Amino acid sequence: MQKHGIFNIDINDVSSTMLLTLYCHARESRSADPIIDDPRAVEITAALNRQLAGSADRMYRDLADGKLNKKLITFITLRARQFDRYTQDFLSSRPDGSVVNLGCGLDTRFWRVDNGSARFYDLDLPGVIKIKRKLMSETDRYRMIASSVLDFRWMDLLKQHGSSPCLFLAEGLLMYLEKDSVRDLLLKLQTEFPGSELVCEVVHESVVNGWLKGAMNLRMQGELHLGQEATFVSGVRDGHEMESWSPGINLLSEWSHFDSDEKKLGWARLFGKIPGMRRVQWTVHYRLG
Ligand SMILES: C[S@@+](CC[C@H](N)C(=O)[O-])C[C@H]1O[C@@H](n2cnc3c(N)ncnc32)[C@H](O)[C@@H]1O
Repeated sequence: MQKHGIFNIDINDVSSTMLLTLYCHARESRSADPIIDDPRAVEITAALNRQLAGSADRMYRDLADGKLNKKLITFITLRARQFDRYTQDFLSSRPDGSVVNLGCGLDTRFWRVDNGSARFYDLDLPGVIKIKRKLMSETDRYRMIASSVLDFRWMDLLKQHGSSPCLFLAEGLLMYLEKDSVRDLLLKLQTEFPGSELVCEVVHESVVNGWLKGAMNLRMQGELHLGQEATFVSGVRDGHEMESWSPGINLLSEWSHFDSDEKKLGWARLFGKIPGMRRVQWTVHYRLG
């Protein structure tokens, strides 16, 4: 299903979630003691406000009106900061390495982590990249790729740039893809870019098939006013499940929001004490050998 356009460019329900994360980054950047400092997100949301304010879409209007749940802002920005840290760690040992942000949305990580020599690729569906190109420009070290992550021809393009090994990031992407597709993607990344690393967010399979499914959908459609198709379709048992797909996939680390002692989590920190809650939606880091 296509959503109302931004700059008259239609995007689907899943792509529209990128606006939530962008607005969370911008709002947090303007708060006291910000978890993330993202001046580009502030600029971009200012440019988008006029587009969203007149929209027939409730979520768009809420964003333009500054209506955003504070806990959501904290969760989203803690995750973004953690992905920034993974990127900075990778670049500290490979200052001129390549980082590929899969399902990048309107995220501005390049400007948050750029070290002056890394190459950075932002990949998303063609409609999203069309919008992104209206808001920011490419440079010799920052490129956008307009493609589904599942149309593997983008990998040839990356290889033409001689970019290997790479750090692949998938922040808020894999849970929207069918499990077979996620598996094909990982195996293909492993074959095409040996020695690379992957940092990806995953959800537990109970969010997709089990007792947490209803609660998650209520939150996404009921509270956030996302479209019906913005729903999680694949999850994993644990961080080791993806390792079992190939002997070359090795789990390096896992991260949960509840590993942070961030004050802004407030009472939500208690969730981290409930068994299993640290592994409902979390981040995993693999080497693709
Ligand atoms: C929750 S948003 C996350 C955006 C960004 N990573 C962030 O954290 O701000 C999900 C993103 O995945 C993208 N996406 C969904 N399916 C995709 C696919 N098959 N290929 C590439 N991108 C996809 C959407 O367009 C959207 O931008």
